Amino acid sequence: MEPKKILITGGLWYIGSHTAVLFSQAGYDIVLLDNLSNTHKDEVLSSLKILTNKDIPFVEGDVRDYDFLDQLFEKEQFDWVIHFAAKKAVGESCSDPFLYYDNNISWTITLLEIMDKHNVKNLIFSSSATVYDAEKNIPPFTETDRLNTTNPYGTTKLVMEFLLKDMAQHRNFEVICLRYFNPIGAHHSGLLGENPKGIPTNLLPFILRVAKKEIEKITVFWDDYPTPDWTCIRDYIHIEDLAQAHLQSYEYLYHKKEIKANSEEEITTPSFEVFNIWTWNWKSVKEMLSIAETVVGEPINFEIGERRDWDVASSVANPIKAKQVLGWEPKKTIVEAVEDAWNFYNNHKEENK
Ligand SMILES: NC(=O)c1ccc[n+]([C@@H]2O[C@H](COP(=O)([O-])OP(=O)(O)OC[C@H]3O[C@@H](n4cnc5c(N)ncnc54)[C@H](O)[C@@H]3O)[C@@H](O)[C@H]2O)c1
Repeated sequence: MEPKKILITGGLWYIGSHTAVLFSQAGYDIVLLDNLSNTHKDEVLSSLKILTNKDIPFVEGDVRDYDFLDQLFEKEQFDWVIHFAAKKAVGESCSDPFLYYDNNISWTITLLEIMDKHNVKNLIFSSSATVYDAEKNIPPFTETDRLNTTNPYGTTKLVMEFLLKDMAQHRNFEVICLRYFNPIGAHHSGLLGENPKGIPTNLLPFILRVAKKEIEKITVFWDDYPTPDWTCIRDYIHIEDLAQAHLQSYEYLYHKKEIKANSEEEITTPSFEVFNIWTWNWKSVKEMLSIAETVVGEPINFEIGERRDWDVASSVANPIKAKQVLGWEPKKTIVEAVEDAWNFYNNHKEENK
């Protein structure tokens, strides 16, 4: 089989840009698509150039725009899509569910329609731990556990999983769906990282802005959860390990298809596969604060605030399947992730003001 051309939607920001580095360094032909709604274009493109020594093709455009996508697919002849573009703030999704239904679900339907039209049937999708039923399942969750959501963002991810399963069953798509929770950290070079526009919604960027005295304090959303220090427990993953999981998913699916294509016998394999991309690096909010204090070398100002409706006490999953099938294992520690994030943050302080 010939090398393939891969479209990365949402490729210009956090997870997409780290994934783009690995694919480009591995010699794959990629095109990045982004509508620039949540990125710093020039900074990311120049970092990508330094890291890969290439001008990775970038197209400005919106996954919602049918005609634009149609023309792009006509021109580029993609074989694969890695779909990151989405809105992802849980709190915002609770205050404006329709924004999320429209953005995440409608966009994906448009993309799937175009993929189907152009016979591009291979997709890697960013799902999330929020699709697990945290009340009914006993953690750590496995891929076959019950699914349910506590917020509209999670609902959009679950609906998208169902759509993709349909595509696999009825339109010959091959889909890998990666469920992950809290990517943190930055590229070890300090050139790429998480630098959200406005007030951060994820824990570590918020903590680091408090450490930098750009925000006065962080609110820990309640301390009466049934966990050892009474604050919520999550699984954290270094962004480079997460990007690596996308590369190994691609290579796994590519070789699976190659074996199928070259085999004289009919080989039946699942065409919709789900993997937990987790690390066993479970940490409570207070533990994360403490790690960050050690890395930055001073106390971080926090207060205990009201519980949020959508938070669950513990969201942790079992990543064994990813190790057995994809051969993927995380390599980096949480401390390294916080150090890399702090290094990136200090390199980019002007951007944050
Ligand atoms: N970061 C997390 O904590 C996390 C956890 C689990 C799953 N995910 C999922 O991973 C994916 C990527 O997350 P991220 O943290 O890199 O987000 P991000 O906001 O950093 O990056 C998303 C990129 O998509 C672009 N984009 C948004 N809407 C678009 C549209 N309509 N058309 C084209 N481009 C568009 C944005 O400009 C941005 O560059 C999302 O699907 C998210 O739901 C993220």
